[in-house]
Amino acid sequence: MTAGQRDLRRGAAALEWLFNPFRSTPVPEIYDLISTDAISENGLYLNLGDWRTATSIDEACTALVHRLGAAADLGPGDAVVDVGFGFGDQDIYWARAFEPARITGFNITRSQVERARERVAAEGLADRVDLRHGSATAMPLPDASADKVLALECAFHFDTRAAFFREAYRVLRPGGRLVLGDIIPARPGPTRARRAAQRAGWALTSRIWNIPRANADTPESYRAKLRGAGFTNIRMESIRDDVFVPLHRYVTARPELMRRYHPLLRLPFHAARYADPARLYSGLDYVLVSAETPA
Ligand SMILES: C[S@@+](CC[C@H](N)C(=O)[O-])C[C@H]1O[C@@H](n2cnc3c(N)ncnc32)[C@H](O)[C@@H]1O
Repeated sequence: MTAGQRDLRRGAAALEWLFNPFRSTPVPEIYDLISTDAISENGLYLNLGDWRTATSIDEACTALVHRLGAAADLGPGDAVVDVGFGFGDQDIYWARAFEPARITGFNITRSQVERARERVAAEGLADRVDLRHGSATAMPLPDASADKVLALECAFHFDTRAAFFREAYRVLRPGGRLVLGDIIPARPGPTRARRAAQRAGWALTSRIWNIPRANADTPESYRAKLRGAGFTNIRMESIRDDVFVPLHRYVTARPELMRRYHPLLRLPFHAARYADPARLYSGLDYVLVSAETPA
Protein backbone atom coordinates (compact mmCIF):
# COMPACT_ATOMS: atom_id res chain seq x y z
CA MET A 1 0.00 0.00 0.00
CA THR A 2 1.36 3.46 -0.91
CA ALA A 3 1.61 6.32 1.61
CA GLY A 4 -1.29 8.06 -0.21
CA GLN A 5 -3.50 4.98 0.06
CA ARG A 6 -2.64 4.61 3.75
CA ASP A 7 -3.58 8.25 4.31
CA LEU A 8 -6.90 7.79 2.51
CA ARG A 9 -7.70 4.70 4.55
CA ARG A 10 -6.86 6.55 7.77
CA GLY A 11 -9.09 9.45 6.70
CA ALA A 12 -12.00 7.08 6.04
CA ALA A 13 -11.52 5.41 9.43
CA ALA A 14 -11.40 8.84 11.12
CA LEU A 15 -14.64 9.87 9.40
CA GLU A 16 -16.32 6.67 10.49
CA TRP A 17 -15.08 7.08 14.07
CA LEU A 18 -16.16 10.68 14.49
CA PHE A 19 -19.27 10.96 12.39
CA ASN A 20 -20.99 7.56 12.02
CA PRO A 21 -23.60 7.57 14.81
CA PHE A 22 -24.45 3.91 14.13
CA ARG A 23 -21.04 2.45 14.89
CA SER A 24 -19.00 2.54 18.08
CA THR A 25 -15.34 2.26 17.17
CA PRO A 26 -13.61 -0.36 19.38
CA VAL A 27 -11.25 1.28 21.90
CA PRO A 28 -7.98 -0.14 20.47
CA GLU A 29 -9.01 1.10 16.99
CA ILE A 30 -9.55 4.61 18.41
CA TYR A 31 -6.06 4.67 19.90
CA ASP A 32 -4.53 3.15 16.75
CA LEU A 33 -6.09 6.04 14.84
CA ILE A 34 -4.80 8.67 17.25
CA SER A 35 -1.47 6.86 17.13
CA THR A 36 1.50 8.80 18.51
CA ASP A 37 -0.01 12.12 17.39
CA ALA A 38 -0.76 13.12 21.00
CA ILE A 39 -0.93 16.87 21.44
CA SER A 40 1.77 16.79 24.11
CA GLU A 41 4.79 18.58 22.68
CA ASN A 42 7.59 16.31 23.94
CA GLY A 43 6.18 13.18 25.55
CA LEU A 44 3.40 10.94 24.27
CA TYR A 45 0.98 11.64 27.10
CA LEU A 46 -2.72 11.21 26.38
CA ASN A 47 -4.12 12.68 29.60
CA LEU A 48 -5.82 16.09 29.74
CA GLY A 49 -3.47 17.54 32.35
CA ASP A 50 -3.63 19.36 35.66
CA TRP A 51 -3.33 23.02 34.66
CA ARG A 52 -3.14 24.70 38.09
CA THR A 53 0.44 25.86 37.57
CA ALA A 54 1.41 24.38 34.18
CA THR A 55 2.53 26.54 31.26
CA SER A 56 2.74 23.77 28.63
CA ILE A 57 0.93 20.54 27.74
CA ASP A 58 3.81 18.38 28.93
CA GLU A 59 3.98 20.20 32.27
CA ALA A 60 0.22 19.79 32.73
CA CYS A 61 0.27 16.08 31.83
CA THR A 62 3.21 15.43 34.14
CA ALA A 63 1.50 17.40 36.94
CA LEU A 64 -1.59 15.18 36.67
CA VAL A 65 0.58 12.05 36.71
CA HIS A 66 2.37 13.39 39.80
CA ARG A 67 -0.95 14.22 41.48
CA LEU A 68 -2.12 10.61 41.05
CA GLY A 69 1.19 9.22 42.31
CA ALA A 70 0.99 11.46 45.40
CA ALA A 71 -2.67 10.50 46.01
CA ALA A 72 -1.58 6.84 45.88
CA ASP A 73 1.27 7.64 48.31
CA LEU A 74 3.62 5.72 45.99
CA GLY A 75 6.95 4.94 47.55
CA PRO A 76 9.96 2.61 47.67
CA GLY A 77 8.97 -1.04 48.09
CA ASP A 78 5.53 -0.66 46.49
CA ALA A 79 4.28 -3.25 44.02
CA VAL A 80 2.23 -1.08 41.66
CA VAL A 81 -0.31 -2.05 39.01
CA ASP A 82 -1.03 0.56 36.34
CA VAL A 83 -3.94 0.01 33.96
CA GLY A 84 -4.53 1.90 30.69
CA PHE A 85 -0.95 3.19 30.56
CA GLY A 86 -1.01 4.72 27.06
CA PHE A 87 2.57 4.97 25.80
CA GLY A 88 4.06 4.43 29.27
CA ASP A 89 5.18 8.02 30.03
CA GLN A 90 3.38 7.88 33.38
CA ASP A 91 5.20 4.67 34.41
CA ILE A 92 8.58 6.12 33.46
CA TYR A 93 7.71 9.18 35.58
CA TRP A 94 6.45 7.21 38.61
CA ALA A 95 9.42 4.81 38.46
CA ARG A 96 11.84 7.75 38.66
CA ALA A 97 9.96 10.12 40.97
CA PHE A 98 8.64 7.63 43.56
CA GLU A 99 10.97 4.61 43.07
CA PRO A 100 8.43 1.81 43.68
CA ALA A 101 9.84 -1.76 43.69
CA ARG A 102 8.01 -2.58 40.44
CA ILE A 103 5.23 -1.47 38.15
CA THR A 104 3.15 -3.98 36.18
CA GLY A 105 0.94 -2.44 33.52
CA PHE A 106 -2.00 -3.63 31.40
CA ASN A 107 -3.30 -1.96 28.26
CA ILE A 108 -5.64 -3.31 25.58
CA THR A 109 -4.11 -1.33 22.68
CA ARG A 110 -1.30 -3.50 21.28
CA SER A 111 0.38 -0.72 19.28
CA GLN A 112 0.72 1.33 22.49
CA VAL A 113 2.05 -1.64 24.47
CA GLU A 114 4.80 -2.25 21.88
CA ARG A 115 5.83 1.39 21.82
CA ALA A 116 5.65 1.74 25.62
CA ARG A 117 7.84 -1.34 26.13
CA GLU A 118 10.46 0.07 23.74
CA ARG A 119 10.43 3.42 25.56
CA VAL A 120 10.74 1.80 29.02
CA ALA A 121 13.70 -0.29 27.76
CA ALA A 122 15.35 2.79 26.24
CA GLU A 123 15.09 4.50 29.65
CA GLY A 124 16.84 1.51 31.30
CA LEU A 125 13.76 0.68 33.41
CA ALA A 126 12.78 -2.72 31.96
CA ASP A 127 13.82 -4.56 35.13
CA ARG A 128 11.30 -2.56 37.21
CA VAL A 129 8.52 -1.70 34.73
CA ASP A 130 6.73 -4.61 33.06
CA LEU A 131 4.11 -3.38 30.57
CA ARG A 132 1.80 -6.00 29.06
CA HIS A 133 -1.10 -6.40 26.70
CA GLY A 134 -4.27 -7.18 28.66
CA SER A 135 -7.47 -5.82 30.12
CA ALA A 136 -7.89 -4.05 33.44
CA THR A 137 -10.99 -6.16 34.04
CA ALA A 138 -9.14 -9.52 33.88
CA MET A 139 -5.56 -9.18 35.09
CA PRO A 140 -3.42 -12.34 35.14
CA LEU A 141 -2.09 -11.52 38.62
CA PRO A 142 -2.38 -13.45 41.90
CA ASP A 143 -4.80 -12.29 44.60
CA ALA A 144 -3.41 -9.74 47.08
CA SER A 145 -0.20 -9.21 45.07
CA ALA A 146 -0.24 -5.39 44.71
CA ASP A 147 0.11 -2.48 47.12
CA LYS A 148 -1.32 0.15 44.78
CA VAL A 149 -3.50 0.09 41.65
CA LEU A 150 -3.63 3.21 39.47
CA ALA A 151 -5.95 4.05 36.58
CA LEU A 152 -5.27 7.40 34.93
CA GLU A 153 -7.99 8.58 32.56
CA CYS A 154 -9.07 5.17 31.35
CA ALA A 155 -11.64 3.54 33.68
CA PHE A 156 -14.54 5.22 31.80
CA HIS A 157 -13.65 2.91 28.87
CA PHE A 158 -13.72 -0.31 30.89
CA ASP A 159 -16.43 -2.87 30.33
CA THR A 160 -17.35 -2.19 33.05
CA ARG A 161 -15.89 0.17 35.63
CA ALA A 162 -17.60 -1.93 38.35
CA ALA A 163 -15.91 -5.10 37.01
CA PHE A 164 -12.56 -3.29 37.22
CA PHE A 165 -13.24 -2.26 40.85
CA ARG A 166 -13.82 -5.94 41.73
CA GLU A 167 -10.62 -6.94 39.91
CA ALA A 168 -8.58 -4.17 41.57
CA TYR A 169 -9.91 -5.28 44.96
CA ARG A 170 -8.86 -8.87 44.21
CA VAL A 171 -5.26 -8.01 43.26
CA LEU A 172 -4.73 -5.50 46.11
CA ARG A 173 -3.37 -6.71 49.44
CA PRO A 174 -5.27 -5.78 52.62
CA GLY A 175 -4.57 -2.10 53.30
CA GLY A 176 -3.82 -1.48 49.59
CA ARG A 177 -4.97 1.58 47.67
CA LEU A 178 -6.75 2.21 44.38
CA VAL A 179 -6.38 5.67 42.77
CA LEU A 180 -8.15 6.93 39.65
CA GLY A 181 -8.32 10.04 37.53
CA ASP A 182 -11.66 9.46 35.84
CA ILE A 183 -14.42 11.10 33.82
CA ILE A 184 -18.13 10.92 34.68
CA PRO A 185 -21.21 12.97 33.70
CA ALA A 186 -21.38 16.34 35.49
CA ARG A 187 -24.03 17.02 38.10
CA PRO A 188 -27.21 18.30 36.42
CA GLY A 189 -27.27 22.11 36.14
CA PRO A 190 -30.04 24.45 37.35
CA THR A 191 -31.86 25.13 34.06
CA ARG A 192 -33.53 22.89 31.51
CA ALA A 193 -31.33 24.32 28.73
CA ARG A 194 -28.16 23.60 30.72
CA ARG A 195 -29.28 20.04 31.48
CA ALA A 196 -30.07 19.44 27.78
CA ALA A 197 -26.58 20.72 26.80
CA GLN A 198 -25.02 18.47 29.46
CA ARG A 199 -26.89 15.39 28.23
CA ALA A 200 -25.87 16.14 24.64
CA GLY A 201 -22.24 16.66 25.71
CA TRP A 202 -22.10 13.36 27.56
CA ALA A 203 -23.88 11.48 24.73
CA LEU A 204 -21.35 12.78 22.19
CA THR A 205 -18.37 12.08 24.46
CA SER A 206 -19.51 8.56 25.25
CA ARG A 207 -20.17 7.74 21.60
CA ILE A 208 -16.82 9.04 20.38
CA TRP A 209 -14.80 7.46 23.21
CA ASN A 210 -16.85 4.25 23.31
CA ILE A 211 -17.89 4.61 26.95
CA PRO A 212 -20.26 1.84 28.06
CA ARG A 213 -23.66 3.07 29.21
CA ALA A 214 -23.07 1.39 32.57
CA ASN A 215 -20.19 3.81 33.25
CA ALA A 216 -22.36 6.97 33.22
CA ASP A 217 -22.02 7.15 37.00
CA THR A 218 -23.11 9.83 39.42
CA PRO A 219 -20.69 10.45 42.32
CA GLU A 220 -23.12 8.45 44.48
CA SER A 221 -23.29 5.42 42.16
CA TYR A 222 -19.49 5.58 41.73
CA ARG A 223 -18.99 5.39 45.50
CA ALA A 224 -21.63 2.65 45.79
CA LYS A 225 -19.77 0.53 43.21
CA LEU A 226 -16.50 0.97 45.14
CA ARG A 227 -18.24 0.02 48.39
CA GLY A 228 -19.91 -2.93 46.65
CA ALA A 229 -16.47 -4.22 45.59
CA GLY A 230 -15.33 -4.02 49.24
CA PHE A 231 -13.42 -0.69 49.31
CA THR A 232 -13.42 1.67 52.30
CA ASN A 233 -12.03 5.19 52.98
CA ILE A 234 -13.42 6.40 49.66
CA ARG A 235 -12.45 9.93 48.67
CA MET A 236 -13.68 11.70 45.57
CA GLU A 237 -12.78 15.23 44.51
CA SER A 238 -13.89 17.05 41.39
CA ILE A 239 -10.87 18.61 39.66
CA ARG A 240 -12.78 19.60 36.51
CA ASP A 241 -11.80 23.28 36.85
CA ASP A 242 -8.10 22.30 36.81
CA VAL A 243 -8.56 20.33 33.59
CA PHE A 244 -11.09 21.03 30.82
CA VAL A 245 -11.32 24.80 30.38
CA PRO A 246 -7.60 25.61 30.87
CA LEU A 247 -6.67 22.82 28.41
CA HIS A 248 -9.21 24.17 25.91
CA ARG A 249 -7.80 27.70 26.23
CA TYR A 250 -4.22 26.51 25.80
CA VAL A 251 -4.92 24.36 22.74
CA THR A 252 -7.31 26.71 20.93
CA ALA A 253 -4.74 29.49 21.23
CA ARG A 254 -2.23 27.22 19.43
CA PRO A 255 -3.85 25.73 16.30
CA GLU A 256 -0.38 24.63 15.14
CA LEU A 257 -0.58 21.81 17.75
CA MET A 258 -3.21 20.14 15.57
CA ARG A 259 -1.02 20.08 12.45
CA ARG A 260 0.19 16.55 13.13
CA TYR A 261 -3.38 15.21 12.95
CA HIS A 262 -5.11 13.98 9.83
CA PRO A 263 -7.19 16.92 8.41
CA LEU A 264 -10.42 15.03 9.18
CA LEU A 265 -9.42 14.57 12.81
CA ARG A 266 -8.87 18.34 13.02
CA LEU A 267 -12.49 19.16 12.13
CA PRO A 268 -14.01 18.81 15.64
CA PHE A 269 -11.10 20.86 16.98
CA HIS A 270 -11.79 23.73 14.58
CA ALA A 271 -15.50 23.61 15.48
CA ALA A 272 -14.63 23.65 19.20
CA ARG A 273 -12.49 26.79 18.80
CA TYR A 274 -15.62 28.88 18.39
CA ALA A 275 -17.54 27.31 21.28
CA ASP A 276 -17.86 28.64 24.82
CA PRO A 277 -15.66 26.20 26.80
CA ALA A 278 -17.77 26.44 29.97
CA ARG A 279 -20.76 25.23 27.95
CA LEU A 280 -18.77 22.78 25.81
CA TYR A 281 -17.57 20.77 28.84
CA SER A 282 -20.66 21.32 30.99
CA GLY A 283 -21.63 17.65 30.64
CA LEU A 284 -18.32 16.32 31.99
CA ASP A 285 -16.81 15.99 35.42
CA TYR A 286 -13.21 14.99 36.08
CA VAL A 287 -12.77 13.22 39.40
CA LEU A 288 -9.75 12.24 41.44
CA VAL A 289 -10.70 9.15 43.45
CA SER A 290 -8.96 7.05 46.06
CA ALA A 291 -10.18 4.02 48.00
CA GLU A 292 -8.60 1.40 50.23
CA THR A 293 -8.98 -2.28 50.93
CA PRO A 294 -9.61 -2.91 54.64
CA ALA A 295 -6.33 -3.58 56.53
C1 LIG B 1 -7.12 8.35 27.41
S1 LIG B 1 -5.95 7.04 27.28
C2 LIG B 1 -4.96 7.42 28.71
C3 LIG B 1 -3.58 6.85 28.58
C4 LIG B 1 -2.63 7.21 29.74
N1 LIG B 1 -3.18 6.81 31.01
C5 LIG B 1 -2.33 8.69 29.74
O1 LIG B 1 -2.96 9.37 30.57
O2 LIG B 1 -1.49 9.16 28.95
C6 LIG B 1 -6.87 5.59 27.76
C7 LIG B 1 -6.02 4.31 27.82
O3 LIG B 1 -6.80 3.24 28.37
C8 LIG B 1 -6.50 2.06 27.63
N2 LIG B 1 -7.60 1.10 27.85
C9 LIG B 1 -8.88 1.23 27.46
N3 LIG B 1 -9.60 0.15 27.86
C10 LIG B 1 -8.75 -0.65 28.55
C11 LIG B 1 -8.90 -1.89 29.25
N4 LIG B 1 -10.08 -2.52 29.30
N5 LIG B 1 -7.83 -2.40 29.88
C12 LIG B 1 -6.63 -1.78 29.84
N6 LIG B 1 -6.43 -0.60 29.19
C13 LIG B 1 -7.47 -0.05 28.56
C14 LIG B 1 -6.31 2.56 26.23
O4 LIG B 1 -5.65 1.63 25.40
C15 LIG B 1 -5.49 3.83 26.49
O5 LIG B 1 -4.13 3.50 26.65
